[in-house]
Amino acid sequence: MARRRIRLSLLCSLLLAVAAGAGTAATASPSDPAAGPAAPGAAAGARPVPLDRVVPAPASVRPAKTPYTLGPHTRIQVAPGSRAARQVGDYLAGVLRPSTGYRLPVTAGWSTAPGRGGDAIRLRLLGTSPSGRGLGTEGYRLEVNRRTITISARGPAGLFHGVQTLRQLLPAAVERNTRQSGPWTVSGGTVTDVPRYAYRGAMLDVSRHFFTVGQVKAYIDQLALYKINTLHLHLSDDQGWRIAIDSWPRLAAYGGSTQVGGGPGGFYSKADYREIVRYAASRYLTVVPEIDMPGHTNAALASYAELNCDGVAPPLYTGTEVGFSSLCAPKEVTYDFADDVIREVAALTPGRYLHVGGDEAHSTSHEDFVAFMDRVQPLVAKYGKTVIGWHQLTGARPAKGAIAQYWGQDGSEKEVADAARAGTRLILSPANRAYLDMKYDKDTPLGQDWAGLVDARQSYDWDPGAYIKGAPASSVLGVEAPLWTETLSTSAHLEYMAFPRLPGIAELGWSPSATHDWAGYRVRLAAQGPRWDALGIDYYRSPQVPWPTR
Ligand code: ACM
Repeated sequence: MARRRIRLSLLCSLLLAVAAGAGTAATASPSDPAAGPAAPGAAAGARPVPLDRVVPAPASVRPAKTPYTLGPHTRIQVAPGSRAARQVGDYLAGVLRPSTGYRLPVTAGWSTAPGRGGDAIRLRLLGTSPSGRGLGTEGYRLEVNRRTITISARGPAGLFHGVQTLRQLLPAAVERNTRQSGPWTVSGGTVTDVPRYAYRGAMLDVSRHFFTVGQVKAYIDQLALYKINTLHLHLSDDQGWRIAIDSWPRLAAYGGSTQVGGGPGGFYSKADYREIVRYAASRYLTVVPEIDMPGHTNAALASYAELNCDGVAPPLYTGTEVGFSSLCAPKEVTYDFADDVIREVAALTPGRYLHVGGDEAHSTSHEDFVAFMDRVQPLVAKYGKTVIGWHQLTGARPAKGAIAQYWGQDGSEKEVADAARAGTRLILSPANRAYLDMKYDKDTPLGQDWAGLVDARQSYDWDPGAYIKGAPASSVLGVEAPLWTETLSTSAHLEYMAFPRLPGIAELGWSPSATHDWAGYRVRLAAQGPRWDALGIDYYRSPQVPWPTR
């Protein structure tokens, strides 16, 4: 009986592999009985993942009857002369070797002679050649035929994103770190893919609870799976100052010494921070540091009495209220402080953006807020960076080139639309859509609900290009998914709140609006579940998503 079942399933998977090769499988869903008990990508032996069952949805997919199967002789061949391409090749090998058990040597170059150099995954750099036209700095083309998989891109960022797509086209078991049985077959055809938006961010609040360098790296690896290219670190708030500033050492030493609930807190030394920036860059993410001012500053005010209007330092704060603290806008020392902090943080920042906060300055008068932002924005420019502020910046005078991060809910704020029409670019993080710390439903044990309950569909089903009433679509620089940590203190907490919503925001940032479709998205999202299981990522099994049975 058991033997017969095995034979049948073998026959099934052979037939299904043929069907997938013919490109007819794209309409099947994880609940499709034809997919058999092994859901798409869930286990070796299942038919190959259809080329379009990827998150974020690729811009263009052309299936062909030419599946490729990795084998013990597969090589990874990288563009000769490029250290970055080599590193992407090594990264890919690092993903594939433990589960496949194959050697997968990474070598530079390949033969283009007919019949030579087959059985390879190739990472090809197109530079400025005409064949890379339309791919931009992050796009890629992935071509699968019976002998090779070729990922082509203008530069290494595109190769890296193409590698993320390739991971999702292999069975989910490829993500395990112990040897699994194959076959490791990828559907044939061509994916051509470019992002909709240049800015695709995720924010982590390391102030309310501190997260170690290792924890931040783990989150970076998860963000990279979905082609997120920006990590915004919320480095200071009432409860903790998390980055060493040499000219104001008590900020971190004292202001970083606790967190919500009164734990020991912590902070990043400059070496720690550089390591985060370096690691993020190795995953093609740029770090945007945020020093939140003039509100959300109790940790700084507690560290230096002179920053307070009354000259008295308040105690450290471990609660979760907001809006009670303010730097002293009329005092000159405030701008000495801001200059020093912005100079030191800018020096740690290879990226172009520096975030100055500006939200919930409820203890700062409007006049003081405007005066403060008039003084602080030029400091960011002085140190070579472009300002990002929460969208309350649009209620002051946004500097030329400044970017406003929208965290309202219904897109009705007139000052945001006015600023956008006047040239301020927008990052969209509507709290009732993109805030990963909102509860999924009333029973979610973690998170908050002030912006409502946000399940997977609510999070995914909106259009960043048309969200702010009266703002031109061209004003939207991109999207970002913030993760505030008042209630979150472990990596498992971060994962449970980020997954499955983060991939939806990532898709809004990457995929063309023409691919936007909840019915199709939920099927593609469901296929991610077995990958998260394989990677050990904790996630919320939203009842809105047809997850394969475990
Ligand atoms: C915010 O949620 N206060 C930006």
